[in-house]
Amino acid sequence: MDARLEALLRQMPKAELHLHIEGSLEPEMIFRLAERNHVRLAYPGVEALRAAYAFTDLQSFLDIYYAGASVLLKAEDFFDMAFAYCERAAADHVVHAEIFFDPQTHTARGVPIGAVIEGLEHAGRRAHAEFGLTTRLILCFLRHLSEEDAFATLEAALPHRKHFIGVGLDSSERGHPPEKFARVFARCRELGLHVVAHAGEEGPPAYIWNALDVLKVQRIDHGVRSLDDPALVRRLAAERMPLTVCPLSNVKLRVFETLAEHNLPALLDAGLCATVNSDDPAYFGGYVNENFVRTFAALPQLGVAHALTLARNSFEASFAPAADKDRWERQLDEVFRRIVA
Ligand code: HPA
Ligand code: ZN
Repeated sequence: MDARLEALLRQMPKAELHLHIEGSLEPEMIFRLAERNHVRLAYPGVEALRAAYAFTDLQSFLDIYYAGASVLLKAEDFFDMAFAYCERAAADHVVHAEIFFDPQTHTARGVPIGAVIEGLEHAGRRAHAEFGLTTRLILCFLRHLSEEDAFATLEAALPHRKHFIGVGLDSSERGHPPEKFARVFARCRELGLHVVAHAGEEGPPAYIWNALDVLKVQRIDHGVRSLDDPALVRRLAAERMPLTVCPLSNVKLRVFETLAEHNLPALLDAGLCATVNSDDPAYFGGYVNENFVRTFAALPQLGVAHALTLARNSFEASFAPAADKDRWERQLDEVFRRIVA
């Protein structure tokens, strides 16, 4: 790849909007926390665990991802995990991250939701002080569980309301359509929370329609299957509905067989507000800059203009204040002028 394009991709300021914090747990940290917390793992060591990261679909990943998260017990564990992510994100010139967390994965093991949120929030505060990185938390409901369980999770989280800006919907998509969570999302909107949902990763375009029409989401996470439905593409373009695309994730989970077959160029050509994100970087082979560089390397039709569009889309799609977005735009112009112009 052109050296200037690669430098631009790596150094341009960017917002990361689709990152599961439990998916940033590197094998080395899994074993360190397992030892610290006296948790027994089914794998003898880091190498054996990494060798198990040969996924065939979303569910085969989720099984290992939930097992990895079992080492998280105390606020300091959540702090260590999230601060390590923030260090890596800042190194990739991420200026703002909206971070998903899965409280039900932890509360089901007896971990108090307050310990989860407190540890994550503390890491975000420290990262802001040290790197100037801003972070916000988005609480995700696990869609393979019931709406009743989601309501109970929301209730338990409300004492910590000031520490999260929105809710999302993740875990096993097929068989768990958005409308299963219509009432809890309506309640979240009443509470003034932002709402997003995974849709159209493995699930059909109908799940994207229902995320829009029933859940009234403000962003679609993944959404790559939208291109199967021209009327849906027109709707997403007209509304500038953001899609948080995760190319390395899509290849690891066999949504696309190779990066060269990824539809990111087609999404951008269709005028959609697509963004590039890492999803679960410890499991899928790279943080956000690896997603940018490897995707652009595999798709030579992507160039400087696409890089700038993707950075701008990430600011536009974020829930950050307009003044921050303006500042990041100016930083982007500076980096562009320094490297390319
Ligand atoms: N899809 C659905 N649920 C998830 C994912 C994903 O890519 N990562 C973590 N939970
Ligand atoms: Zn995801």
